[in-house]
Amino acid sequence: MIELSLADVAVATGGALVDGAEPTATVTAGVEYDSRAITAGGLFVALRGDSDDGHRFAAAAVGAGAVAAVAEERTGVPTVLVADTLMALGRIARAVVDRLPDTTVIGVTGSSGKTSTKDMIAALTARSGNTVAPVGTLNNELGHPYTVLQADRDTRYLVLECSARGIGHVAYLCEIAPPRIGVVLNVGSAHLGEFGSVEAIATAKGELVEALPADGTAVLNADDQRVRAMAQRTKARVVLFGTAPDADVRATDVAVDGAGRPSFTLHASGESVPVRLGLFGAHQVSNALATAAVALACGMPLPEVGSALGQLRPASPRRMDVFTRSDGVTVIDDSYNANLGSMTAALRALATIGADRRTWAVLGYMAELGRFEQTQHEQVGRLAAELGVDRVVAVEPEAAGIDQGARARAADSGWEGQSVQVPDQQAAIALLADEVRPGDVVLVKGSRYRTWQVADALRETADSALGDREAPA
Ligand SMILES: Nc1ncnc2c1ncn2[C@@H]1O[C@H](COP(=O)(O)OP(=O)(O)OP(=O)(O)O)[C@@H](O)[C@H]1O
Ligand SMILES: [Mg+2]
Repeated sequence: MIELSLADVAVATGGALVDGAEPTATVTAGVEYDSRAITAGGLFVALRGDSDDGHRFAAAAVGAGAVAAVAEERTGVPTVLVADTLMALGRIARAVVDRLPDTTVIGVTGSSGKTSTKDMIAALTARSGNTVAPVGTLNNELGHPYTVLQADRDTRYLVLECSARGIGHVAYLCEIAPPRIGVVLNVGSAHLGEFGSVEAIATAKGELVEALPADGTAVLNADDQRVRAMAQRTKARVVLFGTAPDADVRATDVAVDGAGRPSFTLHASGESVPVRLGLFGAHQVSNALATAAVALACGMPLPEVGSALGQLRPASPRRMDVFTRSDGVTVIDDSYNANLGSMTAALRALATIGADRRTWAVLGYMAELGRFEQTQHEQVGRLAAELGVDRVVAVEPEAAGIDQGARARAADSGWEGQSVQVPDQQAAIALLADEVRPGDVVLVKGSRYRTWQVADALRETADSALGDREAPA
C-alpha cells in the first residue's frame, strides 16, 4: 500500500470528509473491509454484505487505528462519506495504480484456468521483479481492488485475475487497474446461465483487450476461434499462443506422460526450447503457453522461460492436485470448481493417468448453466463413458444428468463401466471407502463446495501437496 492523504481519498472517491476527517491525515497501512484486519494507519471501508453491515464496525475500526472510515452514512467517527463504498474501494485502488507508473499490470481472463495461469505468470514474473498477485481466486469487484491495494512502489508486476458474470464486469476491473498486458485463455460455458450465450461470454471476456493501450500486448489463444477473433478488438500488439501453425508462441510435440504431466517444444521468435511441466493435465500446455507469452513480453529470454515453466508446481489448492496415497490410490483433486471445459480437461487427464488402472470419476453439479444445465451434465457423463472411465459417481440429485449421460452412452456403445447417482457427498465417501482398491485412480470434481468433502475424505490418509484450503467465499 502506498500512502494516500484523506484529501487524496476524497478526490479519488468523490467523497466528503466529515466528522473530524482531516484532509492531511495520511493512510499509511492497509485498506481493509474487515475491521479485525485494521492496523494503525489503515483505512476502513464499510461494505454492506448479505449478512452484515460494515457500517456497524466503523467505530471499532477507528478504535483499532484506522485513520478514517469510508462509508455511505455518518458513523460517528472520522469518515469519507461516499455514495457507494464498493465503488469507492475500486477508485482508491485506481488512485494507487495511478501512482505506480513503473508497475506492469497483467490481467488474465477466460472461462477456465484464470487462477492456475495467474499463479504461473506470477511465479515467472517474480523471478525478474517484485510481484503482487491475489491469493486464490480474488477476482471480482471486491477481491480485485483489494489485491491492487497490496501494491506499493516496489511492485514491478501486478498479476490480476479478471472474472465476468456479465457484460461490463471485466471493463470495470480494467478501470480499477488498467492492464498493459491482457491474456484471454478461452471462451467456454462458465456462467452460461447468466450470459445466455457463448457469444455474450466472448463479448465480455474481450473487454480485457479493448482496455489495452496501443503499446500494450494482447495475449490471445490461437486455438480458440472466439479468442483469436478478439485481435480485431484491440489497439495493442497481438501475440497468439497455441498449437496453431501461425501462433507466435507455439507448442509442438505435445505429449503427456503416464503421470499426466505434459511436455512439449516451445517456439517463439525463431527459437525453441523443450519444456517438461510438473503440472497435471494436457490443458496446462495452453496455460503454459499463455504464461510464456507474458514472460517473453516482459523481456524474459526464451531459455529462462522454458526452465521456469518446468519448475512450476500446483499453487492454488483443489486444482489438478494429483497425489498418490500410501495405499497406492491416486487422487486427482480438481474439486475447486467445474464447467464443461474444465470437466472435459480433467476427465481426459483421468483417462491418461489411469490408462492401465481402474478409474473413478466422482462428479458433482455444475452451477450457473441455466437452460444448458441438463444437456451439459449429460455431455459430461457421456464423455466419461467414452473415455472408458470405469466408475462414474454423480453426487447429489442435481448432478443426475451426468449419471443419465453415462448410462445413455452405455446403452449406445456397450460401455462396460458403471454409473450411479448418490444422494450426497457422505454417500459418495461411504461408497468410495467400501469400493476403492489400491491402484485405483479417483478424480473428484464439481462446482464450488459440491465435492470438497469427498476430496478431503480421500486426502485424509495422504500428505497433501498443498496444505492450505481456500476458504469458502
Ligand atoms: N486451460 C484450461 N482449460 C480447461 N480447464 C482448465 C484450464 N486451466 C485450468 N482448468 C481447470 O479449470 C478449473 C478451474 O481452474 P482455475 O481455478 O484455474 O480457473 P478459474 O478460471 O480461475 O476459475 P474461477 O472462475 O472459479 O475463478 C480447474 O478444474 C482446472 O483444472
Ligand atoms: Mg479463479
